[in-house]
Amino acid sequence: MARRQTTGMWTSFITWMDERMPVTETWEYHLSKYYAPKNFNVWYIFGSLSIFVLVMQIITGIWLTMSYVPTGEGAFASVEYIMRDVELGWLIRYLHSTGASAFFIVVYLHMFRGLMYGSYRRPRELLWLIGMAIYLCLVVEGFLGYLLPWGNMSYWGAQVIVSLVGAIPLIGADLMEWVRGDFLMSGITLNRFFALHVAALPIVLIILVFLHLIALHHVGSNNPDGVEIKQNKDENGVPRDGIAFHPYYTVHDIYGVVVFLFIFCVAAFFAPEMFGYFIEAPNFTVADPLKTPDHIAPVWYYTPFYAMLRAATFPLLAVPAKFWGLVVMGSAILVPMVLPWLDKSPVRSIRYKGMASKVMLGLFTISFLVLGYLGTIPPDPFATLLAQGMTVIYFSYFILMPWYTRVEKTKPEPDRVTMR
Ligand code: HEM
Repeated sequence: MARRQTTGMWTSFITWMDERMPVTETWEYHLSKYYAPKNFNVWYIFGSLSIFVLVMQIITGIWLTMSYVPTGEGAFASVEYIMRDVELGWLIRYLHSTGASAFFIVVYLHMFRGLMYGSYRRPRELLWLIGMAIYLCLVVEGFLGYLLPWGNMSYWGAQVIVSLVGAIPLIGADLMEWVRGDFLMSGITLNRFFALHVAALPIVLIILVFLHLIALHHVGSNNPDGVEIKQNKDENGVPRDGIAFHPYYTVHDIYGVVVFLFIFCVAAFFAPEMFGYFIEAPNFTVADPLKTPDHIAPVWYYTPFYAMLRAATFPLLAVPAKFWGLVVMGSAILVPMVLPWLDKSPVRSIRYKGMASKVMLGLFTISFLVLGYLGTIPPDPFATLLAQGMTVIYFSYFILMPWYTRVEKTKPEPDRVTMR
């Protein structure tokens, strides 16, 4: 009796809400009647994990902000205070710093899935472009955040990257001063990086993720076979190869979050510095404009691009090498944006593409990993030569794509999704 009464009250409440806001309609459109392909594999977990990590970063970030002091004099000491004196401050800080690396791991895997299954192709070009905008935003967000502890690597890392702006002909010097807000990296720079890191970019990120999901639900999810499930619907208009996102994939994704949390907690509790890959040793000493660390390197998620920056060693057209390094690095980050228009294959997924696509994707992955490693070590002539070779391979994947996807022999794509 009591239960029937509660159900009745709930139904009346929802009806009241529905008359004023499309609650049920939104729930059905995005969850209970959003039909996702039933052949999703493990690669499809990283989108949900990205949302999970984003929420975690925002929550831990808000808590850190409660005790952090964004000034040149107070920043480093306030982080020490969080680590030693604030109740569970060490945990919040390590969840946030490990979370930054976890974010890039899940987003890189999420993007790689897109490359494998051709998820960037029509009709998902806009979804891909919004994803790229998210990625760019994340790159900047991570860079800004790394300055905040005001450790010596924070200082010199930011110094190296900001000084790259100075390599732009004509306007470089003025632009560099504008970015720093001062003649050198100072508390003023720290203050503006803080404002952008905790307010501006998180807002932009949230808006972009929202648009990303709107675009995804409009066109529908791709899948490992690259088959368009909307093209085969039953008499009720439900895709024959689809299943409702809720409850099937919500439960599935919660399972993924639990597995992720297990691995993540091992890292956050037992190896938060990850042998210098997540937090570098010089960052345990305060920023010192008079003492350059022996070897300046960014955090691992930027090192493939950093290696490409350093691989440009010769001036060209009377413009210094540093500028060309900036051009190579910028192009490497931006080039995936044009992927939807480079892929000319008659099939979408790597499962049905030819040998050339498979080899090129393999080489691309190897080049990214090798460059990532090279970016962490001090340069020497051999490493520089290797980085130059890997940079050529990295760009070949994109530049040659219109050619190799057109000439290779592909396998016939099935009409329905396959379960394997
Ligand atoms: C904060 C970062 C991001 C979040 C929270 C996010 C979230 C999601 C979610 C929840 C999905 C649906 C589940 C899935 O297919 O895995 C998805 C799909 C997708 N995302 Fe993202 N994403 C992010 C970043 C990116 C980036 C950087 C790219 C690429 C540049 C990207 C490209 C795509 C594509 C192409 C799909 C459709 C995949 C398919 O249907 O096969 N996303 N995203």
